[in-house]
Amino acid sequence: MIDKNRVLIFDTTLRDGEQSPGATMTHDEKLEIADLLDEMGVDIIEAGFPIASEGDFEAVSDIAKRAKFSTICGLARAKLPDIDRCWEAVQHAKSPRIHTFIGTSPLHRAIPNLTMDEMADVIHETVSHARNLCDNVQWSPMDATRTEHDYLCRVVEIAIKAGATTINIPDTVGYTAPTESADLIRMLLERVPGADEIIFATHCHNDLGMATANALAAVDAGARQIECTINGLGERAGNTALEEVVMAMKVRQDIMPYQTHIDTTKIMNISRRVAQVSGFPVQFNKAIVGKNAFLHESGIHQDGVLKNVETFEIMKPADIGLNEANIAMGKHSGRAALRAKLKDLGYELGDNQLKDVFVRFKALADRKKEIYDEDLIALMTDSAANTADDYLQVKWLRVVCGSDGQEAELKMLVDGEEKSSKCQGDGPVDAVFNCVKEIYPTQAKLKLYQVHAVTEGTDAQATVSVRLEEDGRIGTGAASDTDTILASVKAYVGALNRLRLRSQKTAPDADVKTVSYKL
Ligand code: KIV
Ligand code: ZN
Repeated sequence: MIDKNRVLIFDTTLRDGEQSPGATMTHDEKLEIADLLDEMGVDIIEAGFPIASEGDFEAVSDIAKRAKFSTICGLARAKLPDIDRCWEAVQHAKSPRIHTFIGTSPLHRAIPNLTMDEMADVIHETVSHARNLCDNVQWSPMDATRTEHDYLCRVVEIAIKAGATTINIPDTVGYTAPTESADLIRMLLERVPGADEIIFATHCHNDLGMATANALAAVDAGARQIECTINGLGERAGNTALEEVVMAMKVRQDIMPYQTHIDTTKIMNISRRVAQVSGFPVQFNKAIVGKNAFLHESGIHQDGVLKNVETFEIMKPADIGLNEANIAMGKHSGRAALRAKLKDLGYELGDNQLKDVFVRFKALADRKKEIYDEDLIALMTDSAANTADDYLQVKWLRVVCGSDGQEAELKMLVDGEEKSSKCQGDGPVDAVFNCVKEIYPTQAKLKLYQVHAVTEGTDAQATVSVRLEEDGRIGTGAASDTDTILASVKAYVGALNRLRLRSQKTAPDADVKTVSYKL
């Protein structure tokens, strides 16, 4: 029996989100994010695409074995070996689901060169096959929003008859708009026999910036599952952001009277972790989780908020787990205070991890009088991105710069062996990167180099993000330090480490070509 008041949250950060070029996560990172999603009450976690690689299979299968609350779902193309492999990975979950899909729009039908009738047969065969393995089957007509309505109704009916329990309607290229998104769901509910016995899902990409609005419009029309990712991570412009749809429904119960299982106080923590492990920082003005989402800069706004917080705030920071209690941190703060503060910020550390972070914290406190929350978050980003097990590690750096030119001297560990180099460059960052390239020759091209001041003042830490590309693979790195040049080299070396890991796991061009969905 479908509960019409409940909207199921299907999180695909670990599948669609991880498809963002460069957002690759390690096995342990995927498990950690899955645990956080499970704890926050996500109904269905799409944990990966088991046939895509051995690594994906292992991650889906390990996540399936440990999930306590969530249904664990794997993705499969409309191919029997894909579906079998997917079932192999999810079968040990308390609640497993197979999600199979095929592109149904004219453009997507042309790729495997199937006629409408031939594709209809493939859908019947593959959904029936999935249903024989698992009683929870989701089917998606990829590019549904550009599929002819008559054909869409026909194939949805076939999938329902073959046993699909959820029908997902993807706006694969972010092409639809809210009224059209709602009309499409209404049309399917009216025209397709059996539509009232299954759940319709909405899966929106954000190419025109309408993903969240499109998803909520679909819910208004009768969809009862929203597919989304943390921070809106995903292919190109990303997906519907989990935090946006969940908070929109919570804040506007008057017009969207639906319930979810999500514990919204866990939002900020998971948003930060996903930003760290994916290497995709959250834009400052992003709704709900951006650094500025609860900041009031103008005098009028500050005055209003001080008199009555509701003048300019439609939700409380605490609703998403932003704790305002501010313990002042500085060089006299001890380990217990650091642990408590980090817990407040959403980081629960084991003793060993705390020991390592405490050393870095003390080093920072020696250089910087006041340590703000943002400094600690940057410190955590740095610890997550650069570890003592990395193949390449920065050991020591000296840079001379000024109007006479720039020269850098660098010592690094390469697989534990110390190497050094001295280079000049066009500016200090260029000089240091030249040293890295001399020590570890690479063809990787620098695609992004970005510096953000974490807080204000000339002693502020800088967070540097670097993105590299080699043979179509992408690696990202991020690091923070009060010394911008040191942060730059650590971020660059971090990106090289990720690229190296990626080249061991994937074929060339894995990040830049769209080959994964070909039938
Ligand atoms: O965007 C899309 O169409 C997808 C499908 C695999 C559901 O991600
Ligand atoms: Zn998608």
